[in-house]
This record gives sequence, structure tokens and C-alpha cells, in this order.
Amino acid sequence: MTQQEREQAVTDEVVASFAATSDERLREIVQSLTRHLHAFARDVRLSQEEWEAGIAFLTRVGHLTDDKRQEFILLSDVLGLSMLTVGINAPAAPGATESTVFGPFFVESAPEVPLGGDIARGAAGTPCWVSGTVRSTDGSPIAGARIEVWEADEDGFYDVQYEGDRSAGRGRLHSGDDGGYRFWSVRPSSYGIPDDGPVGELLAATGRAPMRPAHLHFKVDAAGHRTLITHIFVAGDPHLDSDAVFGVKESLVVDFAEREPGTAPDGRVLDTPWTSVEFDIVLEALR
Ligand SMILES: [Fe+2]
Repeated sequence: MTQQEREQAVTDEVVASFAATSDERLREIVQSLTRHLHAFARDVRLSQEEWEAGIAFLTRVGHLTDDKRQEFILLSDVLGLSMLTVGINAPAAPGATESTVFGPFFVESAPEVPLGGDIARGAAGTPCWVSGTVRSTDGSPIAGARIEVWEADEDGFYDVQYEGDRSAGRGRLHSGDDGGYRFWSVRPSSYGIPDDGPVGELLAATGRAPMRPAHLHFKVDAAGHRTLITHIFVAGDPHLDSDAVFGVKESLVVDFAEREPGTAPDGRVLDTPWTSVEFDIVLEALR
């Protein structure tokens, strides 16, 4: 038996060990994972020390992860696996709003705000009026779509990155009868992804920057439509071409207009500069 045959025999044996998996899709996944994982180890001629370092790395990723810190999603993001998965599952329907990475900072139980309400709730930054319409790919407005939004404050931090049970810069609202939605928030800021853990060490060791261009996250659900997970990016941000998690798409880069102190569309009077952005959301109708 040659070295190559010995190595192939290990792979074949493991692949065969999954042959009796009754769930076809699970069988496909674990057998393919085995083949690709083994091919990777052969490709780099993985040493015992490197295998140990890899196990130690993943162990630290796991130890750091809890209900507020998601180091595994961050790892997937910086490896581009998140964005590749988004691409593989891109909606077929032309005209639907494009999706991008989910990221590690979504929280299930964001507070409900009324249409026109303020999701900042203490998050520091320049006030930002966000409005638009939720429509279906057939052009009809969607009433009652559930819109969840979340963003970093002007210091580049999400609420969950602060001590305590802070909830700010996130909220949930529903589109009105005409599909319209609107809310106050703060102008999103560019930020460095958390780099005090193993993912940060990986970036440092490979000479990569942790910065993400400023963005506002959206998750939008409506009956009969595919859930949209996306963000909008602030046009002109210096990090648009070097997003640490590869999430930027041209169609998601929008103008955030700088406004002078004065009266906003909802009648709110601001004595400081503010910003506004309009973003229509088009959901793919499910057949
Ligand atoms: Fe983000």
C-alpha cells in the first residue's frame, strides 16, 4: 500500500461508516464534509501540532460563545462561509432586495416600537430618520410585515457589547396598511468586529483588518414571502471595499442624507443636524 492509498483508505472507511444514515440529506452532508475535511488535511499535509492548534482554537471559539457573544458566527463571517451561504441561497426572483450576512448581534426579543417610533432608546449618535415601503416582487405593498432592525451606536458598539442588560439601537415594528414603514434611529457607524478573541487573533496573524463599513441590519418577515436578512450600507463609507466579513453588495449601498437642524417629516423639531435614508424593501413571493 502506498502512502496515498493508506490515506485514501481512511477517508473511504469514514465515508462508508455513514452509509446507513436514513436521512438522505444528512448522509449527503456528513459524507461530503468528511471528504472535503480529509482533502484539506492532505492538501496542507496537516501536522500533529497544527491539528492540536486547530482543536485549541475551536475550543476557545466555543468557550467564548454564549447567548450574547457569538464567536462561531464571527468565525464563519470572516471565513466568508456566511456570505457564500447567502449567495447559494440568493432569491431567484429578479427585483427582490438582496440579502447579506446575518452577523453575530441579532437578539430575538427586540422591543416593539410603533411606526415612527425611536429604536435608538439611548444609543448615542446623530438622529436618523429611516423610511420606505415593503413590497412584494409582484409590486403590491405588504401590510403588517415584521421588520426587525439593529445597529451599532456612534462608538461602533452594539448594545449587547456593553455590560448589563442594555437594549438600545434595536427594535421591531410592522409595516402599515400601505406597506410603509418609518422609524428613528441613529446614523450607523463603521466598527471593528470583536477582535479580543480567537477570531481577532486569526485576523491579526493573517494581517487582516477587522473593520466593517457602517450599516443598519434588517430582518423582514411577511406571510407568503421569503424572509429577508440584509443590511443597508452608508454610501461613502471608507470601508465599503474592505468589509471584514465580505457583506457589501452594490444594491445595498444607499445615501444617508445630511440634514440641517429643523423639522423632520414626522414633525419632530431637531436643534442638531440629523440624517435621513429611504429604503424600499422588496420581498420574494413564495409560490
Ligand atoms: Fe453589524
